[in-house]
Amino acid sequence: MPQFDEKSITQAVIDRMADCPDARFKQVMTSLVTHLHDFVRDVKLTEQEWITAIQFLTSVGKTCTDKRQEFILLSDTLGVSILVISLNHPAQGTSVESTVLGPYYWEGAPELPLGSNLAEGVKGEPTFYSGRVLDAAGSPIAGAVLDIWSGDGEGNYDMQLPGETGMRARGKIRTDAEGRYWFRSIRPSCYPVPTDGPVGEMLRAMGRHPYRPGHIHMIVSAPGYESVTTHLFVADSPYIDSDAVFGMKESLVVKFERSPPGRGPSGERLDVPYYTAQFDFRLRKVPERTRQAA
Ligand SMILES: [Fe+2]
Repeated sequence: MPQFDEKSITQAVIDRMADCPDARFKQVMTSLVTHLHDFVRDVKLTEQEWITAIQFLTSVGKTCTDKRQEFILLSDTLGVSILVISLNHPAQGTSVESTVLGPYYWEGAPELPLGSNLAEGVKGEPTFYSGRVLDAAGSPIAGAVLDIWSGDGEGNYDMQLPGETGMRARGKIRTDAEGRYWFRSIRPSCYPVPTDGPVGEMLRAMGRHPYRPGHIHMIVSAPGYESVTTHLFVADSPYIDSDAVFGMKESLVVKFERSPPGRGPSGERLDVPYYTAQFDFRLRKVPERTRQAA
């Protein structure tokens, strides 16, 4: 009758996967079991700590709803999400860098004409965004789509607002023949990730703040090019150096230039100060091999 001690238990669990038909799954689970057992041995996990961990993960699961994903938040705040992104989308040349998707993406935002105001009626300082979508050589990509979303000027996303059921500060914008895009929205403010659940409790226990620097989200895509999930960060935002989800990348920091009330970039009248933010996105071609496989 086999019996295992605190060392041989690890190989025993791995050996039970001898008949696993999926080689990649077997590799992942073998590594997971090895690291998990090493972790338990390393910290000499107590039974109380083990049950606390089980209760914590149970609570993370129970906090998830159609509109809230506490497991993604856990992954984000532990730096796992950005690690997966860094491994799968490493920075290459001048191509725009990827960062976290975050929990507030809402598929199906409407496509709007160039120059549209995505944030009609949304609280926040008006901002005019513009730039181009280019290939690695700097040639314009016509018909590239920017799928854009952000919180309001107080850091709240539409899906967080009580009673708000529709999309706000979201939209898709398509580049013109010269690869140019422009639209109006607001200047996003810093905001805390949700702290009323188990992940918030974990952050407090770790002595960490929950804030993300101000940013606007975008997924930039074009046929034949790799889609990029990214942000533009507000250069002088609080927490720019201590993003709670480790998503800040220097290449994505943009200076938001302030202008006094008056005529906006397209001649519109503004009776409050406004900002302009300019950024060019460079996309990589989908490698030939991947295209053939597809
Ligand atoms: Fe965000």
